[in-house]
Amino acid sequence: MSRRIRTAIVGLGNCASSLVQGVAYCRALGEAAIGVPLPVLGGWRPEDVEIVAAFDVDARKVGLDVSEAIFQAPNCTEIFHRDVPAAGVVVQRGPDLDGVSAFMRNQMPSRSFVLSDAPALEAAEIVATLRERGVDVLINFMPVGSQRAVEFWATCAMEAGCAMVNGIPVLIASDPKWSAKFRAAGVPVLGDDFKAQMGATIVHRTLSHLFDMRGVRMDRTYQLNVGGNTDFLNMMDHDRLQTKRLSKTEAVQTSMVHRLEDEQIRIGPSDYVPWLDDNKVAYVRLEGRLFGGVKMDIEARVSVEDSPNAAAMALIAIRLARIARDRGLAGDLGSAASFLFKHPPVQVDDEDGLARLIAFAEGAGTE
Ligand SMILES: NC(=O)c1ccc[n+]([C@@H]2O[C@H](COP(=O)([O-])OP(=O)(O)OC[C@H]3O[C@@H](n4cnc5c(N)ncnc54)[C@H](O)[C@@H]3O)[C@@H](O)[C@H]2O)c1
Repeated sequence: MSRRIRTAIVGLGNCASSLVQGVAYCRALGEAAIGVPLPVLGGWRPEDVEIVAAFDVDARKVGLDVSEAIFQAPNCTEIFHRDVPAAGVVVQRGPDLDGVSAFMRNQMPSRSFVLSDAPALEAAEIVATLRERGVDVLINFMPVGSQRAVEFWATCAMEAGCAMVNGIPVLIASDPKWSAKFRAAGVPVLGDDFKAQMGATIVHRTLSHLFDMRGVRMDRTYQLNVGGNTDFLNMMDHDRLQTKRLSKTEAVQTSMVHRLEDEQIRIGPSDYVPWLDDNKVAYVRLEGRLFGGVKMDIEARVSVEDSPNAAAMALIAIRLARIARDRGLAGDLGSAASFLFKHPPVQVDDEDGLARLIAFAEGAGTE
């Protein structure tokens, strides 16, 4: 077995930047690396991930080596590991499809996307590239709302025989129709929408679970999120937000024994504050009643750099995808990857999800 997981990235934005920095960081620091969840998984380490292909549409990234492209505007995430060796992999021009909305084309270029003039690759050229480079896993980090673009890349991955990791809230792994297509193509698909390492979702799920555990009746809740990266700017276009709201809201609804009525729960991106850059701030409020119907509430504020938070989970997902592909598994992985995503095909408690993921990686089946 090759000791590298040959990976293609679609969308070289902030999350991809943190992922590429993270691989170099783990290689440089080894066991001294900080904050690495599941440093060894089925024999694989984060530093075994190797980027062998990359695709974007932005003029400031297309044509550059991945090691330079990840530091170009409008990327604005914290640079925690500047020393990323040249990968010898040039970012190629993918098709636009619905990746960049009309709304994003009308924003300040330094904060938004600038389309490259280079001709976009055709599907057949992309499939040939994925095959020639021996890509094991393709990971998607395109903007929220890229429905057609994600379907395009899913089709390319299937044709090239790559596993796919879908980090965004377009429903692919959790859509039975797409999961069946991957099953028929003989390759695994993991998704959808990363549940960040220590983000608003996992904190909100944990607090909701605590209400149930302590017998407190939850009455209503909200989670308001603000940030200043392109992901937040893109999400100001509410037409693109439908599946993001669904994914984030379901992640909390499914952590409770009793679902809340729709009007008692409000979760989603709430505003764009440019100077926050990649710092995301979430305000979480839960209201309930304890013994005797007496009211109580909790408010929590979570402040995190958004992209390393997703990259940590992406580096687990890529390893899990490779393990599944090596075993000849195809389609979605049931609950084996639920721990990693906000909207997986099967929702389970987070502790249970972690146990299932580890059991799967150690060879104990898909459920
Ligand atoms: N940060 C987190 O914690 C987190 C968690 C879950 C999901 N996500 C999702 O991950 C995705 C990536 O987030 P990000 O912060 O890196 O976003 P970003 O805006 O920084 O990056 C998106 C990248 O995609 C490129 N792009 C646009 N259209 C494209 C196309 N058609 N083909 C190829 N590339 C295209 C852009 O040029 C940009 O480089 C978003 O959808 C986000 O919602 C992030």
